Amino acid sequence: MKKFIQGLPKAELHLHIEGTFEPELMFKLAERNDITLPYESVEALHKAYDFSQLQDFLDIYYQGMSVLRTEEDFYDLTWAYLEKVSKESVRHVEIFYDPQGHVDRGVSFETALNGIHSALVQGQKEFDISFGIIMCFLRHLDEDAAFETLESALAHKDKIIGVGLDSSEMGHPPSKFERVFAKARDEGFHIVAHAGEEGPPEYIIEALDLLKVERIDHGNTCLRDSALVERLVKEQVPLTVCPLSNTKLCVVDDMKNHPLPEMLKLGLKAMINSDDPAYFGGYLNENYEAVSGILNNDKDALALLARNSFTSAFLPQSEQDKLVAEVDRYMTNV
Ligand code: ADE
Ligand code: ZN
Repeated sequence: MKKFIQGLPKAELHLHIEGTFEPELMFKLAERNDITLPYESVEALHKAYDFSQLQDFLDIYYQGMSVLRTEEDFYDLTWAYLEKVSKESVRHVEIFYDPQGHVDRGVSFETALNGIHSALVQGQKEFDISFGIIMCFLRHLDEDAAFETLESALAHKDKIIGVGLDSSEMGHPPSKFERVFAKARDEGFHIVAHAGEEGPPEYIIEALDLLKVERIDHGNTCLRDSALVERLVKEQVPLTVCPLSNTKLCVVDDMKNHPLPEMLKLGLKAMINSDDPAYFGGYLNENYEAVSGILNNDKDALALLARNSFTSAFLPQSEQDKLVAEVDRYMTNV
């Protein structure tokens, strides 16, 4: 099954580039930037990755990203991710990043964006992986800060295709950012939001009705509301599900209880993603492997997830069709 997953063409649509920061690279860049990390070694840092909820992880994630200072740092981070997934039959990526996590500590908007973007351009050339960049607003910060960030993005529409919403979900409902997202839509950005990771189904409904999202990031808690499930099925709203993230952050107690099989049975348009792979113990293929067992190692189910990843991407229909055809071809040969 590992070999089948390895060769299956797929897209990644829910990936925080700052969440790909491996401890080894973090220590290397800390040294390069003359920063002392509050951990003695790579092993000590690994040991700290023991989370019982989203906030535990976010505290360490923001501390980790503070090592990123220069355009070269963002390039190296993104390049390391691309090198990894180029060996996983990943054909398209839509990458999140958190501009406020950098601007607020004195790194310019352009430094982070240009470093990430140049690596992705190089990755397209070298690995034939197409890409999009989605900037996320940090929902624990206020509406003014999000507006300011959106303002900075307007000069970079050639590089940023969409806006999202991430960070601490509870107590920060999508409604807090209704006006910012209205402006982002007017400016032509694609719209996504994390909803229903820890938050209630009402947050998913707000993301749909108030932010007018095109995809829901996570969406697990939709299963508590059958009318919402019916709507998500009818409208075929993509859910960017992240299995290893869910168990690592205790959103799901054990992989054998992960809701993915139920989601697919209900007709929800789910697909698999790695979220923050350096922190959660696995990149994209390891997430496919993690759910393979609970899908009875059904190759057709895994191929459906891969097709969903392409048909949910912000790509022209012709590109989606080409990538779906790659999955079809792969399936006739396995
Ligand atoms: N930022 C990075 N990963 C996240 C996640 N899983 N949920 C919310 N915010 C995040
Ligand atoms: Zn996420």
